[in-house]
Amino acid sequence: MKKIDRRKFFKGLVYSLVSLEFAYVFFRLLKLDKTALDETNYYEAGDISFFEKGRVYPFSSARFFLYCLDDGGFIAVSSRCTHLGCIIQFNADHDRFECPCHASAFEKSGEVIMSPATRALDYYPIAFKGDKVLVDNSRPCRRSKFDQSQVMYV
Ligand code: FES
Repeated sequence: MKKIDRRKFFKGLVYSLVSLEFAYVFFRLLKLDKTALDETNYYEAGDISFFEKGRVYPFSSARFFLYCLDDGGFIAVSSRCTHLGCIIQFNADHDRFECPCHASAFEKSGEVIMSPATRALDYYPIAFKGDKVLVDNSRPCRRSKFDQSQVMYV
């Protein structure tokens, strides 16, 4: 019977432990934390405290409007009209969104007020990180009408 060299045995043991440690760290890095916020697609709209209740803020380059509701909730609505895709504008005098192409109008929540559009403006997921409002403008959420579940609260 072959004798196991004591030195080789401990060397092999150390290599095995180091390999296990690396494997553990590797798989921990691969594991996705479902509770973590993937910020890669989020647009940083600004500090929560900056936004006044009842006001609409345009983010033209990111193609959305951020509406801070009277109750402090936030909804981010797409600037693309649901009729044929023209870019809507916020008309402060009428306190609503209006489409320059065929005159559809939308409430600040995105709900249709006037046709030819028949469904509410798409909205985008919102997240809060620290004191920042983040909007994922890569994932428009299609909806037929506004409902309170689409509003996000800090
Ligand atoms: S594209 Fe907006 S009303 Fe037609």
